Amino acid sequence: MSGILITGGNVIDRTGERRADVRIAGGIVSEVGQGLTAADGEQMLDASGCVVSPGFVDLHAHLREPGTEEAETIETGSRAAAKGGYTCVVAMPNTDPTQDSVSVIEFVRRQGEAAGLCDVRPAGSITIGRQGQQLSPLAELADAGVHLFTDDGDGVQDPLLMRRALEYAADLGIVLAQHCEVKRLTERAVMHEGHCCSKLGLPGWPSIAEELMVHRDIELVRLTGAPVHILHLSTARSVQLVRAAKADGLPVTAEATPHHISLTDELLAGYSSLYKVNPPLRTMADVEAIRAGLADGTIDAIATDHAPHAPETKEQPLDQAPSGMLGLETALGVSLASLDMPVADVVAALSWKPAAIAGVADQHGRPVAPGEPANLTVFDPNVEWQVVPTQLASKSRNTPYVGLPLRGKVKHTVWRGSATVLDGVATR
Ligand code: DOR
Repeated sequence: MSGILITGGNVIDRTGERRADVRIAGGIVSEVGQGLTAADGEQMLDASGCVVSPGFVDLHAHLREPGTEEAETIETGSRAAAKGGYTCVVAMPNTDPTQDSVSVIEFVRRQGEAAGLCDVRPAGSITIGRQGQQLSPLAELADAGVHLFTDDGDGVQDPLLMRRALEYAADLGIVLAQHCEVKRLTERAVMHEGHCCSKLGLPGWPSIAEELMVHRDIELVRLTGAPVHILHLSTARSVQLVRAAKADGLPVTAEATPHHISLTDELLAGYSSLYKVNPPLRTMADVEAIRAGLADGTIDAIATDHAPHAPETKEQPLDQAPSGMLGLETALGVSLASLDMPVADVVAALSWKPAAIAGVADQHGRPVAPGEPANLTVFDPNVEWQVVPTQLASKSRNTPYVGLPLRGKVKHTVWRGSATVLDGVATR
């Protein structure tokens, strides 16, 4: 494998920030320093005006394969990920069949390796078929290398089952990730319950449906000592609950999506299903609380909840359309445009903090230093740009960001020592 020299960038990693060139050889970072000169046959990547950081890690991507390949495949989803600066994505288990057996997990892993664009780490479901009735074979899946488990798309409703799952998780060293939604409170819901939904005459998804489960799971963490990761926090009160849990020293982590820091429920006024997402877009006060939670570290990670849907399903009336929007290719641009945080803190929330939660911190989110795996992202933090739908690598088009100004764009992505994205274009 011929090497790469990244020149003129500002390196940001968990050890700090410095101007340096970065040489990559044999899949690892081989040299970091100023004024490095290209060796014979080395590929030069210009990083002037750019940040060079460890590759991003997404804790929450729906890659849709197996089962819904008309919306996304592992290949198209990992290409979208690479374009978004990701070197590792956790693939959500709400596939068909569900990722609740070693054979499906191995299939997803193999497809990820075959695509060869980023690490694809399948999450397992907590319950068989995500039906909330019977635990998946957690020990067997943990043995097969699965670290994160979730019934995402649904929360585990039964508190006894969740308690048992946590007791196993404590022994197995795995992490349970919860989609917090008490279903009984959200039947038929299409948007946030508040004055907008009353005005529009649409059934509401109340904040309390999330907060009750956040609270329940925090108390179950207190009881069992097992860690819980809370997916896509969306309400101000949820942020307070997580903040208090962390102050108590509990092993609770949390993520927020780019859409919950940038969009509000008022956008549903045109009844467009592009804005239908679960949990729903909420009020500006909630958006501000989520931003503050990221800024003070209460919320550990920015995670996309990349949820591709084919046009024939998404472009239906609000009550029938599925929830979800694309995220992988716009996460950085939305985050930098929406958050009043130092770039280094945004990178932390996109890279080393999620790497630790996903259990991939041996390969991703590493310091940019000799001997470390060469999984890196080069991005311009200042450039303003807009989404061009025809240029998306994702197979689906359900992004609400067309026409909105984004800030910060990925220029190059390097995965396992070779470029998956060069000048914004996927190499394979
Ligand atoms: O909006 C969402 N879409 N939220 C989820 O929890 C599931 C996801 C999906 O799979 O489409």
